Amino acid sequence: MIKTIDWTPEGVRMIDQTKLPSVEEYPLFRSFEAVADAIRTMVVRGAPAIGVAAAMGIALGMKQSRAADTAAAAAVFRRIADTMAGTRPTAVNLFWAVDRMRRVFDRLLADGVDLDAIREALIAEALAIRDEDIESNRRMGRLGQELLPSSGTVLTHCNAGALATAGYGTALGVIRAAVESGKRLQVLADETRPFLQGARLTAWELWKDDIDVRVIADNMSGAFMRQGLIDAVIVGADRIAANGDVANKIGTYTVAVLASRHDIPFYVAAPTSTLDLSLETGAEIPIEERDPSEVTRFAGVRVVPENVTAFNPAFDVTPHDYVTAIVTERGVARPPYGPSLAALAE
Ligand code: MRU
Repeated sequence: MIKTIDWTPEGVRMIDQTKLPSVEEYPLFRSFEAVADAIRTMVVRGAPAIGVAAAMGIALGMKQSRAADTAAAAAVFRRIADTMAGTRPTAVNLFWAVDRMRRVFDRLLADGVDLDAIREALIAEALAIRDEDIESNRRMGRLGQELLPSSGTVLTHCNAGALATAGYGTALGVIRAAVESGKRLQVLADETRPFLQGARLTAWELWKDDIDVRVIADNMSGAFMRQGLIDAVIVGADRIAANGDVANKIGTYTVAVLASRHDIPFYVAAPTSTLDLSLETGAEIPIEERDPSEVTRFAGVRVVPENVTAFNPAFDVTPHDYVTAIVTERGVARPPYGPSLAALAE
């Protein structure tokens, strides 16, 4: 399995996703600031993976902190947690992981546990978040693969694979499990402009696993659907509101509308840590705006006139009525999503 993220006593080791597929490098990030920077610059990306990175970053920062008393340790914790929470705004898994680390810290501090033991407990919690993520992806795979046809073509958008998680993947985990169970699937990977997660990352990891994959440009899926060449769509998610509206990589909404127009099932695979039932609808989900240079440049080369800039929202929201089912590690939610998601979150 691809080692997306790993804990070492010296720091957090992560595959550099900005360099794939041409260079496979696993640099070590030796401070919490370096981990935060890696999240911001998308060395590590994908909702569950940035949650794990944030948790490990907190554990690392606390391990290296020299705070000698509880008040100083609490101030350091706050600073590290705020840094992590300030890296990217849309994927709720990031805030979920920071909150989980904060709860462990606050509880042990209140219980009078000594600081060295608290530091160890934070490392253990970060590792538990990682291990649980892999386990829930495998469960999602087992549950979700039943939704896919025994043979045919599945379209995916962005990268919701091993690289976007601690391992195995959400949407790609479902595809992996289907192929492992003997289904004969071809995957179409949208290239996913502007960051090319589909062309660079989904294609790379499926190729590594010997899964039949082809890349299409983002503007091709409608024509493929119209010709009956796509049997199902499956994507991941960055945040899912209580009514089932799904925030995911920009372009997901377009694919969902096209799928609906052509009666193709549109599935979302995401762990329950991606649910944000405090938000009634997707309209409340904060959408990250990234640097326009990601759009105005292609592989480092400017492709837009010097005096013209661009819009670069990194995510969009797919209204729940385009979503056929949401696969989580606890079960498959179907419409109406209000009650079905609430039941899974309990
Ligand atoms: O900007 P990114 O690459 O972090 O966006 C990732 C996505 O939109 C994924 O589809 C989502 O996080 C699910 S990953 C299992």
